Amino acid sequence: MMLQQEIKALKKEKNAVILVHNYQLPEIYDVADYIGDSLELAKKAVQTEADLIVFCGVDFMAESAKILNPEKKVLLPVLEARCPMAGMVDIRGLENLKKRHPDAAVVSYINTYATTKAISYCCCTSANVVKVVNSLEHEKIIMVPDQNLALYAQRFTKKTIIPWDGYCYVHHQQFEPEVLQQLKLDYPEAEVVVHPECPPEIIDLAHAVHSTSGMMKYVKNRPGTEFIIGTEIGLIERLKRECPDKIFYSANGTSATCWQMKKNTLETVYQSLKEEQHEVTVPETIRIEAQKALDKMLLYS
Ligand code: 13P
Ligand code: SF4
Repeated sequence: MMLQQEIKALKKEKNAVILVHNYQLPEIYDVADYIGDSLELAKKAVQTEADLIVFCGVDFMAESAKILNPEKKVLLPVLEARCPMAGMVDIRGLENLKKRHPDAAVVSYINTYATTKAISYCCCTSANVVKVVNSLEHEKIIMVPDQNLALYAQRFTKKTIIPWDGYCYVHHQQFEPEVLQQLKLDYPEAEVVVHPECPPEIIDLAHAVHSTSGMMKYVKNRPGTEFIIGTEIGLIERLKRECPDKIFYSANGTSATCWQMKKNTLETVYQSLKEEQHEVTVPETIRIEAQKALDKMLLYS
């Protein structure tokens, strides 16, 4: 039997669901029950009736699914699929910052670990950051870990946002304004659509800024046929599959790649389902606090 068929058979046998982030390899899309951005996948994790969730993405995504679903078994196929940005918050440093700004609410990006979420007031994703910030009663917000997401949100609020100094190595370091400017000259009809994890100089050159699934929806609804995309290559692969009549260029001229996202393969998904590995666990005291921050976010989404 082909691996994809074996995965589908195991899914049925074990009442499992496979949640897949937009940046995953196309071969994994084919076994997905749902493909989406961090917010959509967190919502699906809450709604699912399955006993087992296999999360094809990076660690914080699977961990968030576990926080929201303590009674379910959540699996991360490859333990090394770790988002470097999620590890950029040091808890003591954040506690100190909170003490310096006792009136501020900590809004943590979903790209954080449970320990960070547990000492946050609310979470956000790239899809709902502006809505979350403007929905909170606080006038001051500490935002961790992504400085670019914080600076992006600041454009849409009168509140004071105190950014942390974290970043995504893909969006922060793999896009250059000079390259994007040249692409705009080369393809003058193309619309530029970028992710809010990009630095402000890139955001300034964009026609639209969206989460990964927001980019999918935007492109599908636009009459134009050419797009310059400022995010990880996996999203461009999905766009090409679902919009075969449109043309896509990467905003860095080649392809921006998140190597951690690319650690998952069909083989590791199969092994994960078969052996029920690697199970994600979160200490209950931390999980309870982290869930409060995630639940608040879902309320505003
Ligand atoms: P999205 O929630 O927009 O899919 O972003 C997740 C991510 O890790 C972006 O780098
Ligand atoms: Fe983390 Fe960036 Fe990879 Fe997203 S693209 S998982 S933020 S390193």
